Amino acid sequence: MFTLGIETSCDETAAAVLADERRLLANIIYSQAGLHSKYGGVVPEIASRNHLKKLPFIIKEALERAEVDISQIDLVGATYGPGLVGPLLVGLSAAKGIAYALKRPLVGVNHLEGHIFAHYLEYPQGPPPLLALLVSGGHTNLIRVERYGDYRTIGRTRDDAAGEAFDKVGKLIGIDYPAGAAIDRLSKEGDPEAIALPRPMLNTGYDFSFAGLKTAMAYFLKEHRAKREDVAASFQRAVVDVLVAKTLRAAAEFKIKKIAAVGGVAANSELRARFRREAEALGLEIYFPSSILCTDNAAMIAAAARFKYEELGQEDPMTLSPEPSLELSHTR
Ligand code: KG4
Ligand code: ZN
Repeated sequence: MFTLGIETSCDETAAAVLADERRLLANIIYSQAGLHSKYGGVVPEIASRNHLKKLPFIIKEALERAEVDISQIDLVGATYGPGLVGPLLVGLSAAKGIAYALKRPLVGVNHLEGHIFAHYLEYPQGPPPLLALLVSGGHTNLIRVERYGDYRTIGRTRDDAAGEAFDKVGKLIGIDYPAGAAIDRLSKEGDPEAIALPRPMLNTGYDFSFAGLKTAMAYFLKEHRAKREDVAASFQRAVVDVLVAKTLRAAAEFKIKKIAAVGGVAANSELRARFRREAEALGLEIYFPSSILCTDNAAMIAAAARFKYEELGQEDPMTLSPEPSLELSHTR
């Protein structure tokens, strides 16, 4: 069974071809980040236009790389939310057109569920129940995954997402959007204790708050000179402290033995090292998708679509519309 996956919810134009459950034949990602970097974030109208321009070629490239003819596609899956409405509309409309022309089923995928399916794709040996920490540019969620398709969000950010905080602190020290990977690299040369920063909501509940951290850094930099490396390392340490502590506390409270960290920020090297060390010391299993499946991609969307169609019997009508504020609990 061949599934074509399409992802255009933000600034990656992506298409993938998946055979059966987990055999990834092609995973093509075109990042528009360079187009948005001078604006300090994603400009929705620029993103929509660029998806429209690039998507047909990205789909063609995915099919060619997979050596699968479009007529062999059995199922079409596309992200329908959450995300930017224009970009979502481009990918979803393309998916509908292909499904209609081929007379094949269409499955709309929740982007957040897609990130969890990056774990599904790579770790058949790590099935639920698990605790997913979803950390990206738009989201910071702690999710109890009872089964694939059954999610309970126990914590979310009250303001900025973790990745958004990385990008904003990057801006303070002159790093173009998206700044996460560059801060990760700079941190290796810096002192994580050089600048004293708060650890927001460390011991309260499972919600997160990262806006104060960015503001604390901005105030500090108004009055002090600091090396960029130290800014990066101190900020990163504060974020990692909070993410790791809260996730491990939730795992203990809900007696969950497996943790999957997914989303763009799960590519962070300090987060990975700390989680590995601390989770393993507690006898927990910790999983990270490879970096290419952490940031936005269509492989995870194809995997989620196949699962939802085959295992849960989901098939969506041609009237399916983008839902920019879709939540995980609304997933069917
Ligand atoms: O999952 P993703 O590609 O897109 C969203 O769904 O948002 O995540 C992008 C975010 C950006 O904020 C980027 O700065 C951050 O992930 N990011 C990182 C790293 N690589 C990407 N943050 C910290 N460390 C990294 N190595
Ligand atoms: Zn994402």
